[in-house]
Amino acid sequence: MKKIFAANWKLFKTPQETRQFFKAFKEVSSQSTGELVFFPSAISLEAASQELVGSKIKWGAQNCYHQASGAFTGENSAQVVKDLGGSYILIGHSERRSIFGETDTQVADKVAFVQGLGLTPMLCIGETLQERESKKTFRVLETQLQLGLQKADKSKPLVIAYEPVWAIGTGKVATPEQVAETHTDVFNILKTLGFETTPILYGGSVKPDNAGELIKQPHVSGFLVGGASLEPASFAKIASV
Ligand code: G3P
Repeated sequence: MKKIFAANWKLFKTPQETRQFFKAFKEVSSQSTGELVFFPSAISLEAASQELVGSKIKWGAQNCYHQASGAFTGENSAQVVKDLGGSYILIGHSERRSIFGETDTQVADKVAFVQGLGLTPMLCIGETLQERESKKTFRVLETQLQLGLQKADKSKPLVIAYEPVWAIGTGKVATPEQVAETHTDVFNILKTLGFETTPILYGGSVKPDNAGELIKQPHVSGFLVGGASLEPASFAKIASV
């Protein structure tokens, strides 16, 4: 199966910086045989869509509402993402959950809505440091997957991104052993739920110098990269492992 290398730009890059990035990235990214996906911030999505017309590089939004339009001030429409040529929506990122209070019920509605539109949801799950230290990782991931996928369609595309919260933006990457063990757990949970063919990406302080080792671990189908995706050469290196 083709590996997936996804870039989550969070609230970085203006539309102009987005355009500059893709001009530079197209020069350095030819080594990658994987599927490349970018999640620019909402206001830069249109710039990304214009730069990527005719390219194999995919893109999408970092969040959406579970309805296409209406009186929902401040929300993003996945329908508009689709109309602009996007293919993915990131759902349930730990920053959405911890800063904006997003619940598993909202996540489940978004996953179902996005699949219904014909886009691919990239559902993020992950445990906090406290949960890992108190040996609750498996239970937390199982709950997030059970609830988040309760309305999902098994016959439609879906991607899972396992991102341990303690490894996000901290420079503290999970060890290859931790990645191997947890990805195997995630795979087994998905299998029990009937989603065994779903790709599982790892995210959390992925850098060019640790990507090579992490990609070799069982059930790692690619990466979701934050900080190291903001610079074209660094993300191109990660996407070429
Ligand atoms: O979604 C990507 C992410 O949260 C990881 O961020 O900066 O640790 O690669 P970073």
